[in-house]
Amino acid sequence: MTDAALAEGSDTAGSFPIPSGVFAETVTEVQHYTDRLFRFRITRPQSFRFRSGEFVMIGLPNSAKPVMRAYSVASPSWDEELEFFSIKVAGGPLTEHLQKIKVGDTVIMRPKPTGTLVNDALIPGKRLFCFSTGTGFAPFASLIRDPETYEKFEQVIVTHTCRQHDELKYSADTVANTLQDPLVGEFASGRLLYFPSTTREETQHMGRITTLIQTGAFYEALKIAPLDPAIDRIMVCGSMAFMKDIRTIVDELGFTEGSNAEPGTYVVERAFVG
Ligand code: A2P
Repeated sequence: MTDAALAEGSDTAGSFPIPSGVFAETVTEVQHYTDRLFRFRITRPQSFRFRSGEFVMIGLPNSAKPVMRAYSVASPSWDEELEFFSIKVAGGPLTEHLQKIKVGDTVIMRPKPTGTLVNDALIPGKRLFCFSTGTGFAPFASLIRDPETYEKFEQVIVTHTCRQHDELKYSADTVANTLQDPLVGEFASGRLLYFPSTTREETQHMGRITTLIQTGAFYEALKIAPLDPAIDRIMVCGSMAFMKDIRTIVDELGFTEGSNAEPGTYVVERAFVG
């Protein structure tokens, strides 16, 4: 990365200066799904590199000391823009304002990506299971669009559980677009499986993913063999309560948690919540 690409504290957006050492990027697209969820895209700094599944700190130049929050990059590493999937929290220090952004606005971003939901933190396996709730789908939107994921795994199974049907639209659209994509579609076709479920509105699959794993309904619906630590690898992203419960399940099945320093058979990351 070149320092020249980073703000030096002199540019301004609105009435506040861009803090030094952050990128100032332009919003290129905003799509609202529900009164709780939206996605947006920003320009990508030329020097910015990340591994699919990592997160960055982003904020708005709306105060002298802007609030910065962790956001998983939802776009794949080959994409020329950056995409994010966000919750809207009334009174949330960042999302209260972020949910109002429009094309042409400025979003600031710290230059260093990080995170554990990366292929490098898992030892090689055959099937990759990505379990998510709410905005926890974001890192998987990146990983399922990365050809490297299909080089490392024969099958990629991604689940997304939300309260209501409309909250699944982002993941449903992303999976459909991935399968049609000229670059990744060929890799993903026949190997990417998607399992959406809802807990508070009737859809094809009802219930928490944790429950559906335990009852076996999840495996039956996809016609796949149950989780097996010998061949399967797991990534988890969602609320704290969800992560705690799924950890208990996979620990009991014999999976071991990995990190960048010491790869294992599963990795977890808390989704950004407000
Ligand atoms: P539920 O409606 O039964 O709470 P939220 O919008 O609150 O972040 O929740 C997103 C989804 O995650 C909801 O469908 C919710 O189900 C589910 N969820 C919440 N807690 C857990 C948990 N401990 N284990 C599995 N799923 C959970």
